Amino acid sequence: MCLLAVAGVLAVASEREAGQRFPAGFRFGAATSAYQIEGGWNVSDKGESIWDRMVHSRPDYIYDRSNGDVACDSYHLWEEDLRMVQEMGLDFYRFSISWPRLLPYGFSNQISQDGRRYYSAVIDGLRARGVAPVVTLYHWDLPQRLQDLGGWTNPLIVEWFAEYARTAFALFADRVGTWITINEPGSVCDGGYRGLLAPGLVDHEVGALLCTKHVLLAHARAYRVYQEEFKPKYGGELSIAHQESWFEPKTDQDLEITLLTREYLFGRYTHPIFSAGGGWPPALERYMADKSKREGYPRSRLPAFTPDEIQLLKGSFDFYGLNHYTSRVVRAAAAGERPAYMSRGAEVGAVLEARPHWETAASSWLKVNPEGVRNLLKLIKQQYGDVKILITENGYSDTGHQLDDSDRLNYYKDYLEQVLLAITEDAVRVVGYTAWSLLDNFEWAAGYTSRFGLYSVDFSSPRRPRAARASARYYASVARARVLHAAHTHNTTA
Ligand code: NOJ
Repeated sequence: MCLLAVAGVLAVASEREAGQRFPAGFRFGAATSAYQIEGGWNVSDKGESIWDRMVHSRPDYIYDRSNGDVACDSYHLWEEDLRMVQEMGLDFYRFSISWPRLLPYGFSNQISQDGRRYYSAVIDGLRARGVAPVVTLYHWDLPQRLQDLGGWTNPLIVEWFAEYARTAFALFADRVGTWITINEPGSVCDGGYRGLLAPGLVDHEVGALLCTKHVLLAHARAYRVYQEEFKPKYGGELSIAHQESWFEPKTDQDLEITLLTREYLFGRYTHPIFSAGGGWPPALERYMADKSKREGYPRSRLPAFTPDEIQLLKGSFDFYGLNHYTSRVVRAAAAGERPAYMSRGAEVGAVLEARPHWETAASSWLKVNPEGVRNLLKLIKQQYGDVKILITENGYSDTGHQLDDSDRLNYYKDYLEQVLLAITEDAVRVVGYTAWSLLDNFEWAAGYTSRFGLYSVDFSSPRRPRAARASARYYASVARARVLHAAHTHNTTA
């Protein structure tokens, strides 16, 4: 081959290489949450959470009758976790504060000194290793005392949460630059009031919708507290992490029902915060008002916002936090077909299905469709403009201890490839990516039967030994080089 031709080939190769490079400043991280990893459920003065109550009083709720009493024992082994984050060369580590570990009875009149020391040590440990802490305030472990007072259906929780947030900011905002208020409000309300997650109540008709309003307002109040009292001093950023799947219509006739289902399951949580007009998604608001009337309710089951609340919520973000795992096709329920009462689309008469060729992870809900993440990122941009997006979770579950986890590795490779395309081809402003999870942990109602870890944990040993999987090595190589290499050709040494 002549020299010119060689140069041409090299140019094409380096273009391809350039195309596979993440933009400068793009950040890679991994995530966990307090109840799923910490254990130490009753050490010192820690208060009881709704998950402690659930696993102890209703063990059947958990598939393998396990619980998070010890979990990964990260309350004691947190330095191990930090070592793993550092070993992968990650930019940040997303973890959560357990509300009842910091405020044992939910209110800020009593701050646990042990809780405070624990989170301080984790934050300082990360910073000493050159890793930025990204802190979630609420990852589902509500103090049981507040649940006994009505939990997320009581409007007073908006101020209780703002007060908890203020306490956490006062203690840690000098060292934490990125905050997430609520992890997956959709899971908190639609999971918690559909009997799937703690508190395990079944009232998705009214309870879940009251919860939606209050969880959003709680986020917005915490956002304003940070803006007014802490941002001027520390300049950090704060948002909420939404769970969103990619939904596409099954046929052309299903477009309208798909839009309504998206609004019901996702827009209900995002529109009040990110849209220019604020408030509930108009189509959903109309639908719920009409439906509630037909059902004989004196007012809409979707509780109205006051004009002040609309303003409080609108724009209460510094970036868009996105937890994404999976996709579905949506179709309208056929005449006479009643979607299962508790199914997620039932409220709006939709049936959610997976395409047959999408593979299923150990979690039966997790169908693999990498293009879904790119489609969703484009949709967010289309709906809410050129917003800065931080992918706050993405990951894959399997069932066992195996370290050679090619399915997970390929999931990360294929999803990251689509994220990169969204950035380079569609100009979506994705600023970072978070792998769920750093290590195997308590997967809520699935117990320890679904494992999401880049590192495996041996839960049969009291020492809870951790070991890097092949996916951890792969992810480390991407995070270090900032380039997406084909999974099989890259040197995968962490
Ligand atoms: C979302 C949740 O935030 C996290 O707690 C959970 O383990 C993962 N998804 C996987 O289901």
